[in-house]
Amino acid sequence: MDALIIEGGRRLSGHIAIEGAKNSALPACVAALLTDEPIILRRVPQLRDVSTILYTLGALGKRVVRNEGGVVISGDGPLSGEANPYSVRKMRASFLVLGPLVARLGRARVPLPGGCVIGARPVDLHLRGLEALGAHIEEHDGVVDVSADRLRGARIELGFPSVGATEHLMMTATLADGATEIANASVEPEVLDLVDLLRSMGAEIEVDERTIRVAGSRVGAAEHTLIPDRLEAGTMLLAAAIARGEATVDDVDPEHLRPLVDALRSAGVDVREERDSVTVSAGGPLRAAAIETAPHPGFPTDLHPPFAALLTLAEGTSRVTETVFESRFTYAVPLRAMGAQMSVEGRTVTIRGVDRLRACAVEAPDIRAGAALVVAALAAEGTTTLTGLEQIDRGYERLTEKLQLLGATIERHSI
Ligand code: UD1
Repeated sequence: MDALIIEGGRRLSGHIAIEGAKNSALPACVAALLTDEPIILRRVPQLRDVSTILYTLGALGKRVVRNEGGVVISGDGPLSGEANPYSVRKMRASFLVLGPLVARLGRARVPLPGGCVIGARPVDLHLRGLEALGAHIEEHDGVVDVSADRLRGARIELGFPSVGATEHLMMTATLADGATEIANASVEPEVLDLVDLLRSMGAEIEVDERTIRVAGSRVGAAEHTLIPDRLEAGTMLLAAAIARGEATVDDVDPEHLRPLVDALRSAGVDVREERDSVTVSAGGPLRAAAIETAPHPGFPTDLHPPFAALLTLAEGTSRVTETVFESRFTYAVPLRAMGAQMSVEGRTVTIRGVDRLRACAVEAPDIRAGAALVVAALAAEGTTTLTGLEQIDRGYERLTEKLQLLGATIERHSI
C-alpha cells in the first residue's frame, strides 16, 4: 500500500502548472461514442478516472490512442451496447455512455453507477430525461436496460441542475430527431466545455442562462483542448494558503475560480488575479468565514472539503453549508483526529479555529476529502501518514511532485 508522508510547517512558494480538467475529460471522452469519426482531445490529465473511462470506451469497441498530453478516440467497427460492470460501478461518470449508446444502437444495458461515497447520488434525472426523449427503461438486478426505436427531441426540466444529467441528456439529444430544451440545466465550466466540444463536432447548441437548447444534428470529427482544472488549481491555492505561502497557479481561467477567490479573501488571504493566473499570499492571520456551496456560479462543492481544512486554523468560528451533496463531511473524523474542532449538524459544519493541527495517520475517504487531509497535513506539526491514495489518484496528477516543487516536504512510499 502506498502512503504520502508529509512533514507539515514548510512555507510554500512558487508556480504550479495546472492540468486539463478531469471533469471535462470524462464527458468529452464519452462524446466520442456519438460518432465513428475521430475525436482528438488535448490537455487530457493522466488520472485514474480518465484511464477508467478510456478502458470503458475501449471495451465498447472504440479505438483509443493516448499520446503526450492527449488522446485520439476513433473506430468505425461495431459498438457494443453492454457497458463493463466493473468500470461503471467504479466510477459514476461511466454511466454517461448509456444515452449515446441508445442513440447509436437503439438499445444499451449499463449497471447503476458507483464513484465516491458522497450521499445517495441517484440517477433518476438521467433516466427521466432519457424517457422524455422517447426511451423505454427497465431495471433488473442493478442493471438498467434502455431501448428506443428512435429518440425525439423534447423539453426536459431538471429538478436540480445536475452536472451529469445535463451532460448526458445534451450528448444524447444531439442524435435525437428535432430540438431538445433542457431547463434548469447545470452551467458549470465543465458543462460549457462539453458544449464547445459538441459544437466543434457539428452540433447546434445554445446556452441561455440555465436553459440549454440542442438541435438534433449530425456530429462528426473534432479537435478540442480541455479547460484547466479549477478543482486542482483551487486545491493548490488552498495548500499554499494554509502553509502561509505565496504561490501562483498558471494557465487557469480566473473566472472559473471566482467563488473560491472571493471566499479566500473573506478568510483574510491576499489574492492577485492576472489574465491566466491566480496568486495567493497568505502572510497575515486567517479569519473565520461563512461559505455555502451551490451549483455554478456558486462555491463548488468539490472545494468545500479543502476549504474546511483551511478554516480549521482561522481565528473565530466558521460555517460551511453544503447544498449539493449531503454527505461531503467525510473529512470531519480524520481532521478532528488532527486536532481540528468541528461539528457537523445536518448540512452545516461549524469549525472553531485552533492554533495548531497535529500530524497523525489518516486515510483519504474520497477524492476531495483526501485533498482536505493533504491541505491540513501541510500545516500540521509533525509527520502525517496519509493512506487511501487510490482516491487522491483519481483526481490529482503528480500531486507529490507539484507540492515538492513548491517546497513541501512530502514523499510517496510503499508501506
Ligand atoms: C459532478 C462532478 C462532481 C461534482 C458534482 C457537483 C464529474 C465527473 N463529477 O458529479 O465532481 O461534485 O458534479 O458539482 O463531473 N442528483 C439526483 N438525481 C440525479 C443526478 C443527481 O438527485 O439523477 C443529485 C445528486 O445526488 C447530488 C446533486 O444532484 O445531490 C448533484 O449531482 P450531480 O450534479 O449530478 O453530480 P455528478 O454529475 O455526479
